[in-house]
Amino acid sequence: MSTAEEKIEPVVVRGSTEDPQQDGLVAAYEYDLQTWRKVLGEYLLFEWGVFDHPESPRPVSLDEAGTRFFDRQLELAESTASHVVAPRRILDLGCGWGFLLQRLARWFPECPRLDGANISRSQLDHCGTYLGERGLKDRTNLYLCNARDVRLLPDPDDPYDLVVIRGVTTHFSYELYEASVSALADRVAPGGLLVISDTLYENADASAAAITDDTSDPFELRYQKSPEYFTRVLNDNGFTVRDQRILPSNTDVAHWLLELRSNIETHFPEGVTGTLEELRSAAVHLSIMMLRGQAAAHSIVAERND
Ligand SMILES: C[S@@+](CC[C@H](N)C(=O)[O-])C[C@H]1O[C@@H](n2cnc3c(N)ncnc32)[C@H](O)[C@@H]1O
Repeated sequence: MSTAEEKIEPVVVRGSTEDPQQDGLVAAYEYDLQTWRKVLGEYLLFEWGVFDHPESPRPVSLDEAGTRFFDRQLELAESTASHVVAPRRILDLGCGWGFLLQRLARWFPECPRLDGANISRSQLDHCGTYLGERGLKDRTNLYLCNARDVRLLPDPDDPYDLVVIRGVTTHFSYELYEASVSALADRVAPGGLLVISDTLYENADASAAAITDDTSDPFELRYQKSPEYFTRVLNDNGFTVRDQRILPSNTDVAHWLLELRSNIETHFPEGVTGTLEELRSAAVHLSIMMLRGQAAAHSIVAERND
């Protein structure tokens, strides 16, 4: 059991500019943990999975598929970086419920400092307990901090060598995406890496309405970005893309989406509202868009120029 001493308490970092999306998005995530576990699996990973069907000889769980995907991204970062990847400071931006921070701490056992940033206090509270129980209090800091404000994170003289941003910019307005990449550019070391996963759209404007039936769009999925736009913003802020590929495959993403939909329908047969309903309906629309080549999951490794 975790003790109060082991728990990592989040520190508030707040800039002067309000993010008009923030409160709505935080509310969109505010289901209890049991509900999210029923939908996402035990590890609460919320960004695709690699199932490798039909190569995998047995059914692969959401937890295993999600971990495989993250591990593949780390392997890609290590194999495509211009240097040996041995980070001294890591940031997980939009750190969810903490599993990736734990995975990163194990992947890079020599890294003395891992930071997680999130706009959701309840997710950070869970991170604090989860990571504390795993003996990571000495190496981990948690910040209640919007991506817009990463410039204000403590210790600017200690730059980030690795920043993980998975499933986060999907929620961002174009203005927020550009502001957060510009802020990151100030805090990433020369040669530092961004490891990104996001859904990007071909003919972004034309397909804008198709992803969800829900006009209230609690998950803010309407700011669709094209691969060209996404990488142009990285380049304009001093990052060079070392690797960009469709990963997981469209088939694996459709598998993941339809598994979430099936979990929602099985566990909540009386029906759902709000974010879960948006997720349920987006699962079908997005799967079709992916199979038609209008959308794809992009894995990107970008390196800060010297
Ligand atoms: C789809 S989840 C992905 C979680 C995790 N990165 C993963 O790969 O499983 C998106 C996460 O981004 C966080 N988030 C959304 N907007 C944010 C913002 N403006 N600044 C910081 N975190 C944000 C959410 O609270 C949530 O934890």
